[in-house]
Amino acid sequence: MPLTFPLTRNAAPASTERIAEIHADPGFGAYFTDHMAVATWRQGSGWGGDGVVPYAPFQLDPSCAVLHYAQEVFEGLKAYRHADGSIWLFRPERNAQRLQASSRRLMLPELPVEDFLASIEQLVRVDAAWTPAAVGGEASLYIRPFMFANEPFLGVRAAQRVTYSVIASPVGPYFPGGVKPVNIWVTDEYSRAGKGGTGAAKCGGNYASSLIAQYEGAAHGCSQVLFADAGTGVNTEELGGMNIMVITAEGELITPALTGTILEGVTRDSILTVASELGLRPVARTITLAEIFDRVDSGDIIEAFACGTAAVLTPVAEFRSRQGNHAVGSEPGERTLQIREAILDLQYGRAEDTHGWLRRVV
Ligand code: COI
Repeated sequence: MPLTFPLTRNAAPASTERIAEIHADPGFGAYFTDHMAVATWRQGSGWGGDGVVPYAPFQLDPSCAVLHYAQEVFEGLKAYRHADGSIWLFRPERNAQRLQASSRRLMLPELPVEDFLASIEQLVRVDAAWTPAAVGGEASLYIRPFMFANEPFLGVRAAQRVTYSVIASPVGPYFPGGVKPVNIWVTDEYSRAGKGGTGAAKCGGNYASSLIAQYEGAAHGCSQVLFADAGTGVNTEELGGMNIMVITAEGELITPALTGTILEGVTRDSILTVASELGLRPVARTITLAEIFDRVDSGDIIEAFACGTAAVLTPVAEFRSRQGNHAVGSEPGERTLQIREAILDLQYGRAEDTHGWLRRVV
């Protein structure tokens, strides 16, 4: 039976004035809407107990498995308000499928795609007033579905009770400078993911383990950390929280191939499609750090950017490492901006949705 997420209304929702105040300066992931979606999976009976309920803390038993063994997965997508007031999701089926793939890797139950979509659509409808108007920027409602082992048990095994939930947060740009180019720290000490590990899954552990390198980068004036493959330390993989792409003078758009250790970004995939429509040649292949640095230094790689749901496309100013720095450019590159605009135009309904990527919610 499909889940329906019946509504229990928040008796004390935020006022229109309070929402306007938050929309005026939302930051990223700091404020949450009046409601959240929840469902519970139990070994034997499957999914149930679904609803959209007032946003509130969970009460967890101290022995709850996720607190000890990090059996958890999550997703990130956005709801966009179009000029006519309607609200749309961008390729949410891809997030649903990726959550299923992450769940399989973490031994969590798979949530059917239709239930994933129903949970998000119900929440976005109920809290529609929280989706900001874009007004030329990149304001949106960031949606965070997640699932965790919620069984009070300290044995190391797949949990027999699992909580799925969706929360939503009005957001502006992920990086406070917006489209201003950011520096990237290239770590030679830490790895993000190894062969057979959880690199392709969107699980909290990947992000927890990236923090130490992220902070090392921050100490060197960097906003994100770039990881090489764990086996050789030679090949470019992924940033702490997003994918990486470079553009050559000859018009190639190069990004590391999906090798099982890289997150299969929805934005990454969309950019590869859109870039070819803009006359670039997208190539997903193994690319060494040395190739990037040499070609940046020789002027052959002319642009680089981070990409993800949260970051959209954020230009790279400089790659920094213990061995030296490689400056790409202190201003956003022309092609980066062109792709970024093309993606945002699709998301905000300013361009025709020729790929069928948008799904109307309100
Ligand atoms: C996203 O882009 O949605 C992510 O989950 C990445 C995180 C840095 C917010």
